[in-house]
Amino acid sequence: MTSFRPAPAWLADAVFYQIYPQSFADSDGDGIGDFNGIVQRLDHLVWLGVTAVWLNPCFVSPFRDAGYDVSDYLNVAPRYGSADDLAELVDEAGRRGIRVLLDLVAGHTSDEHPWFTASANDPDDHRYIWAPEGRPDGFVTSPGTRPGAYLPNFFDTQPALNFGYGRKNPAEPWRQPVDAAGPRANREALRTIMDHWLGLGLAGFRVDMAASLVKDDPGRTETARIWTELRHWLDTAHPDAVLLSEWGEPEVSVPAGFHTDFFLQFGGATDGLPLRSLWSNGDGTVNEAWDPLDCFFDASGKGSPRPFVEAWRKASDAVGATGFVSLPTANHDFSRLNCGPRTAEQLPAAFAFQLTWPTLPAIYYGDEIGMRYVGGLPDKEGSVLGPRYNRAGSRTPMQWDDGPGAGFSTAPADRLYLPLDPSPDRPTVAAQRADDGSLLHLVRRLVALRASTPALGSGGSVEVLHTGYPFVYVRGGRYLVVVNPQRNEVRCPYDATREARALEASGVRVGNGTIEAEGFSYGVFDLGR
Ligand code: NOJ
Repeated sequence: MTSFRPAPAWLADAVFYQIYPQSFADSDGDGIGDFNGIVQRLDHLVWLGVTAVWLNPCFVSPFRDAGYDVSDYLNVAPRYGSADDLAELVDEAGRRGIRVLLDLVAGHTSDEHPWFTASANDPDDHRYIWAPEGRPDGFVTSPGTRPGAYLPNFFDTQPALNFGYGRKNPAEPWRQPVDAAGPRANREALRTIMDHWLGLGLAGFRVDMAASLVKDDPGRTETARIWTELRHWLDTAHPDAVLLSEWGEPEVSVPAGFHTDFFLQFGGATDGLPLRSLWSNGDGTVNEAWDPLDCFFDASGKGSPRPFVEAWRKASDAVGATGFVSLPTANHDFSRLNCGPRTAEQLPAAFAFQLTWPTLPAIYYGDEIGMRYVGGLPDKEGSVLGPRYNRAGSRTPMQWDDGPGAGFSTAPADRLYLPLDPSPDRPTVAAQRADDGSLLHLVRRLVALRASTPALGSGGSVEVLHTGYPFVYVRGGRYLVVVNPQRNEVRCPYDATREARALEASGVRVGNGTIEAEGFSYGVFDLGR
């Protein structure tokens, strides 16, 4: 394995928070969130204990895919503010001990990017993947004077940057090797983009579709080589920066050079099973290709934590001390925790687990108050991916208070980027701040407990005592965690040699050779030394 510089020390204790900039906070009343809005709400993140924020793409874009169609990597989209506003956000966040990561869309650009316009009009330009004649399967007819067709990476408006192919195929003579001029120029461009933002004080990148670079790349070997090369450069040029991949297979991506990788709703050998087996209850964002499953965090109690634990163990064994696995509550492509049959009373157990498991937690904005996935919204900037797969439901405006616009914006309701959750009892930050018994306070306490108890963090050991309902594990040989995400009371044998002092618990009793856990209960206990 190639050796990298150890991950920056700050990463081990990171609590990530994902901000979808369109929907977090709108300072100028145009109905779309912006950088200044985020600055005004930084104190919420500090109060919560967040240490690093990842912003979805905020670059110049025609927004056919909500900004994942970048037309200028080095300038910000005016709707979010100016370059100075972003600089101020980074500065203000830094002053409060919060790092800011941007989103690096590495595998494709917008079809409005000047690189693509040039390529669509010059048959000798190989920054993108072109079939010189006809329109092979999956390709899109050239919009320019150049004949033939280009390969998209996601939507048709997102042409794949050419990083070459992992192998030749006589039937596809247009395939270029990874060291051809176009692929080399693109690798160099990634470095230039990273260098630009890191030089301005950004702390790293979440890398979009990180596994997608080299096409027909068995084992992703050549794609991995690109990230390895970039990581070596980063280790010298920006040793405090981190790369967090959207890959979904930490055992491959971290050895390739990423500091951390997400478990995702897709990806990896088991196509997103580890994450979906925890959260995905068949409602919200559903890909028709996914096999239906009973997830663990469901009132019915038909799931199991086993698929997650097994995948985590495999990933964590492969990653060792070189990097981390990240576990999100949700993301902008996937249902929120509060979705379908999962109600607010079920969320505390989910957070008790997420914030005590040896992964890096990523809280999706609004999940800390239990914002609900909103069904049935119209397509917004490419949110709809399938008949049951509308991402807009996870992208609605942050609910700050009970005022008009929920404190997100002063714009009239019909001018908001997306409608607010229409439920009359939608949760808000203000209401939950005023209530010690709220989910928000619990999340804050759990984050604080994790921060003050290294054994509960990413580096401490974990010993699983019961893989079912309840799910029971011990962190660092000392901290007992019990979660019961189903509605019925359950119990399991427990050899109680040490007294269990509750640090954060509701509905769990430990003792007498048994653990008893009421429906939707959780507990973190100190067993002493
Ligand atoms: C993954 C991003 O998270 C998603 O929102 C986007 O549509 C695709 N990649 C394409 O960039």
